[in-house]
Amino acid sequence: MSRTLVKDALNATAPADAILLQGWVRTRRDAKAFSFIELNDGSCLKGLQIIVDASLPDYVNVAKASTGASVEVHGKLVESKGGGQKWEVVAEKFTVLGEADATYPLQKKGHTLEFLREIAHLRPRSNLFGAVFRVRSRLAYAVHQFFQEKAFCYVHTPIITASDAEGAGDMFRVTTLDVGHPPQTEHGDVDNAKDFFGKKTFLTVSGQLEGEIFATALSNIYTFGPTFRAENSHTSRHAAEFWMIEPEVAFCDLAGNMALAEEFVKYLIRDAKQHCAADLEFFSKFVDKELLARLDFVLERPFQRCSYTEAVEILNQSGKSWEHPVAWGDNLQSEHERYLTEEHFKCPVTVYNYPRAIKAFYMRVNDGDRPDRQTVAAMDLLVPGIGEIIGGSQREERLELLRAGMALHHLDEKAYWWYLDLRRYGSVPHAGFGLGFERMLMFVTGVANIRDVIPFARTPGTADF
Ligand code: 4AD
Ligand code: MG
Repeated sequence: MSRTLVKDALNATAPADAILLQGWVRTRRDAKAFSFIELNDGSCLKGLQIIVDASLPDYVNVAKASTGASVEVHGKLVESKGGGQKWEVVAEKFTVLGEADATYPLQKKGHTLEFLREIAHLRPRSNLFGAVFRVRSRLAYAVHQFFQEKAFCYVHTPIITASDAEGAGDMFRVTTLDVGHPPQTEHGDVDNAKDFFGKKTFLTVSGQLEGEIFATALSNIYTFGPTFRAENSHTSRHAAEFWMIEPEVAFCDLAGNMALAEEFVKYLIRDAKQHCAADLEFFSKFVDKELLARLDFVLERPFQRCSYTEAVEILNQSGKSWEHPVAWGDNLQSEHERYLTEEHFKCPVTVYNYPRAIKAFYMRVNDGDRPDRQTVAAMDLLVPGIGEIIGGSQREERLELLRAGMALHHLDEKAYWWYLDLRRYGSVPHAGFGLGFERMLMFVTGVANIRDVIPFARTPGTADF
C-alpha cells in the first residue's frame, strides 16, 4: 500500500477505508479508552489526528509513541467529530518505527531561535523551520519558473575560481598545499604554481563574470548557486555561504534591469502567497504580525526609484543624527538604507547611479557626469526590514572605459583577459543583478536572522553540522 502524505489526507474530499501514514509524533494524549496522536510528516504545517482505540491489539505500542518517535499507521480516514479539523484517522494497525527517548529536545513549549540553532539537526521538525524550509524549496522552484518562462538559460557557473568578481578581496582560499610547509620559490615566497590548479584559487563570490560570457552568446541567462564571502560581518543579514540568483541580460540597460528586478521580486512574493499560504499565515501569527499586510503593500505599488545623489540629500535633510554621517562619495550604511526604505519612502526603493569609486570595476560609467562626481550605472534594491536584497548594474561594454575602471581599482588586466575579450568581439550593452536568496526569504517569511532561513548557517566562527 502506498503512503498518503498528511497534506493530502487533510485535503481529502471523501473518507477512505484504508490509508497508510508515516511520520513523527508531535503530541500524544491518553484517555481511558483511546489515545490521540498528532502526526506530522513535514508535508505541511498541520498535523493529522490519529485515534488509537485501547481495544486494538496494537494499543500496546502506543506507550512507546512519545513526542519525536517515528510511527506508521494503517487505518481509516473519517470525518472528525472534534472541532478544528475536517479529517482524522482511526488506526487499525499502529507501529512505532523509531522510539524517541525522553531527552528529545523539541518539546511542545516554544524554544528560542538561538537554542534551535544549536540543534540544527532537529530544528526542521519544528513548526517554524518546517515552514521556512518548505517556503525555501518552493521559492527555489519559482526562481527557475520565472526565468524559464522568459526563456532565460540556466548556466552553472564555477564554484572554484581564480578571479575576484567583486574586486573586494573577501574570498576563501581553495588549496591543496600543505599550509604548514608550503613549497617555496627560490625567493622564499609560497610557490602557488605547485598548487592543485597551478595558481591561487578561491571559492566564488559571484558567478557574474562567467554569466556575462554566456549572456553575450545566449542573450538571456541566469545562475542560481552557492556563493561565498569571507567578510567578517557579524550581522543578522550576512552569511559566509549563501545562495545567489544572478540574471544577465544582453541588449539591456539600467532601466530594463530595474524593471526586471522588480518583476522578479514581485513574482516570488506572489508565488509564495499562492503556494505557501498556510506557512505564511503561521509566520504572520508567530513571527511578524505585519507580514501579510507588508507583502500585499509591496505587491500593489510600483517600487520607488531614487538616485544616489538624491538619496544623500534625503539623508542629510532627514534631521537624524547618523552613527555614520554621509557625504557624497561615501558608501550608504545599513542605517541609511533602512531609513530610505522604511521611513522615507515606506516602500521598496531602488537606489541607482552610485559614485564610481565605491562600486565594482565592471559597472558602466555614466556619460556626461562631472569628473569630480563620476557615477556608474549601479542599482541596489532596498526593502523594509532588511535593506539591500539586490545589487546590480549595467556593465561597462566599452573596452577602453573598462580598462580604465580596472586601473582605477588596481586590477591586473592579465587576470581578466577573457573578460576584456568580450568587449573586443561583438560587445553589446548588457546588465544584470544578484538577488541574495536568503535575504529574499527573510523578506517573505519575516524571519529576522539569516541563520534561520538557511539549513546550515556558515558564519564567522560557526560551521557545525
Ligand atoms: O551586491 P552584491 O555583492 O552583488 C554582486 O555580487 C554582483 N556580482 C551581482 C550581479 O550584478 N550579478 O551581492 C548581491 C546580493 C546582495 O544584494 C545581497 O542580497 C546578497 O547578494 N549578499 C549576501 N547575502 C548574504 N550574506 C552575504 N554575506 C551577502 N553578500 C551579498
Ligand atoms: Mg551590494
